[in-house]
Amino acid sequence: MKELHEKAKHGAARRRFLRTGLAAGTASVTAGLLTGGLQLFGEDEGRHRGDESITRGDAALLRFAAAAEILETDFWQQYNELGGIQDDEVPGGTGNSVYTTHLQVLDGDFDQYIHDNTDDEITHFQFLNAYLESKGAAPANLEEFRTLPSSKASGAQQIGRLTNLMRLTLDTSWWTRYRSSANNPDLDPTFVFPQAVPGLFAGQFPAIPRSDADLSPEDHIQAIANTAGFHMPTIEQGGNSLYPAMAQRATSVEVLRILISIGPTETMHFQTWADKAGNAPALTDPTNGLVFPDLNSAPFGGEDFQTNLIMPEPCPFLSRKLPRVSIIRPTQTEGIARGVVSFLTSMGLFIGQSKRFFAHMRELAADADAARREI
Ligand SMILES: [Fe+2]
Ligand SMILES: [Fe+2]
Repeated sequence: MKELHEKAKHGAARRRFLRTGLAAGTASVTAGLLTGGLQLFGEDEGRHRGDESITRGDAALLRFAAAAEILETDFWQQYNELGGIQDDEVPGGTGNSVYTTHLQVLDGDFDQYIHDNTDDEITHFQFLNAYLESKGAAPANLEEFRTLPSSKASGAQQIGRLTNLMRLTLDTSWWTRYRSSANNPDLDPTFVFPQAVPGLFAGQFPAIPRSDADLSPEDHIQAIANTAGFHMPTIEQGGNSLYPAMAQRATSVEVLRILISIGPTETMHFQTWADKAGNAPALTDPTNGLVFPDLNSAPFGGEDFQTNLIMPEPCPFLSRKLPRVSIIRPTQTEGIARGVVSFLTSMGLFIGQSKRFFAHMRELAADADAARREI
């Protein structure tokens, strides 16, 4: 992460430099700076030279995506330090064997998947920011908001964080949304999809051990691992909708290509984690009463809850006059970025963040939502 922070700092310094150059108001200064930036990308990648600019709207879409990816990276990093694989690709933590073992109840490869998901998010924000800079546009930078505390559990590094995994309220209705053959939130905005784990939507729960005191009793640390198991797909299904929703307003084909190439990796994350969540053992946390139900039994069970249904159930799309189809949903583009900010805020992911942070995120979202396809 140190290296990441240094890269982000370098980006910020470079941006200031660019702004100064732009403020000087001479095209040749600007062109020179942009050409200087080219070496980052190598000689063979002339198509990314930054000599073609992108629209304000396209920059705003990518900048919002980059900010969302920085936030994703921040919490995936926290998961990796405690429950993933520690290596050069995702450095920072030393691992927590008790937490890792309980995550592995959901899947023996859980630590590998956490690691790889974290690595993906790092590359998402680095690519998006580098692309913005290659076009002379400001990247997303949330460094000043890295103020939230780390978990005190063994394995976590003690640094400032952007996100809070210790007081989550999870909307697990995606579980029934993707199993519904009758309703699509884009066609039925007021339809309430039932929660898979109603308890997670009715309180605040840690998805990582807050300290070593959380490592027992057995059903408590398993409940924390189960919470992580549901948090991961809850987040990734958001990315799964965000990218196709934003792509509909991209102007340049290259920006469209970026959005439709990153978006499906979020879908790969979502489906992987949706499968793992289905393996979370039924239990009641003895410390707070949080219940993880057996989703294959009454009053759950049936197609809406059955745990091995991890492909999207075909549902109505665009019009009920058309046949049902297996799709990502929702993909309604209007207000998508603001929707994502409020979704993450209600989840408790930003508990403890400053007013300035929320104002900054609202501004990035408003700019992205104002983007229009200019063709
Ligand atoms: Fe991502
Ligand atoms: Fe993701």
